[in-house]
Amino acid sequence: MNKVVPDETADSHSTHDAEDDVRNRDIKIFVNGDLVPRDEAKVSVYDSGFMLGDGMWEGMRLYHGKWAFFDEHMDRLFAGLKAVEIDIGMDRAGVLDALNRTAAANGMTSDAHCRLMVTRGVKAKPFQHPALSRSGPTVVIIIEHSKPAESLQKRGIRLATVPQVRGLPMTQDAKYNSHSKLNCVIACLQAEQAGADEGLMLDPLGFVNTTNACNFFIVRKGEVWTSTGDYCMNGVTRQKIIDLCRANGIPVFEKNYSLLEAYSADEAFLTGTFGAQTPVAEIDGKPIGDHTGAGPMTRRLQGLYKNLIEMHIA
Ligand SMILES: Cc1ncc(COP(=O)(O)O)c(C=O)c1O
Repeated sequence: MNKVVPDETADSHSTHDAEDDVRNRDIKIFVNGDLVPRDEAKVSVYDSGFMLGDGMWEGMRLYHGKWAFFDEHMDRLFAGLKAVEIDIGMDRAGVLDALNRTAAANGMTSDAHCRLMVTRGVKAKPFQHPALSRSGPTVVIIIEHSKPAESLQKRGIRLATVPQVRGLPMTQDAKYNSHSKLNCVIACLQAEQAGADEGLMLDPLGFVNTTNACNFFIVRKGEVWTSTGDYCMNGVTRQKIIDLCRANGIPVFEKNYSLLEAYSADEAFLTGTFGAQTPVAEIDGKPIGDHTGAGPMTRRLQGLYKNLIEMHIA
């Protein structure tokens, strides 16, 4: 029997907390062109993704039958796949069709979030060399009914600065949305150990960078700051927030800043496709701002982002 863990009873929280939805026990999952019930959706133990984390993925949200910012997600996916020489075996229209088929099979049009995964496929032997993956890619699409947990908006997320960093591009570029998330998983474990929900990761020079699963912003005296972008995921939501600030006369800076400036920020929030903008309640035990939940600038940006989605899907 499947073990279903209700997120809301858990001690720790994450930006991926969703309202529990029993329908997710019976979803159909796309596995290499077939739509199979969740319990029967399987990949080989020889799969490159399972063995090595050798694959790329995208997280996307469905709003009224349309995948938000599909082109931007495909730009990132296809760039990552090209860089590591994985041939997905279809073009963007083919990906869209696969996503839509999966959503339709599950009767989903809104409040749904997908994880599209593409690995180098099944290996001939259990070793690293990419040439051992000979039978083409493995493509899996999981779409779940998903409403971000309301409680997180009210409470905000607790961050702890962690020793694990998002490193230089010549190690494993933070812009690879790779199956292997061990770097981020280690950061998340360190944050949990420190009693927080998510890890705030610095860059190799010690400037504030990103969290283990989302991009990170602070607000100081009416200005919105985020890291230079050199050492973090090129988040689609991150870029939308920067663009929205620019379009609405809100001063926004991609710059180096330190923990000292983060601790004394008026507001802080995270961005990601799953949760849009999630307020930060505290960093390393220090409360951020004097509000509960989202501060005024975060709320303004949430409103602008919501409008942007509505325009995008219209
Ligand atoms: C490490 C990391 N940072 C940030 C993000 C947010 O990116 P996006 O806004 O494109 O969902 C993701 C999502 O894939 C991520 O894995």
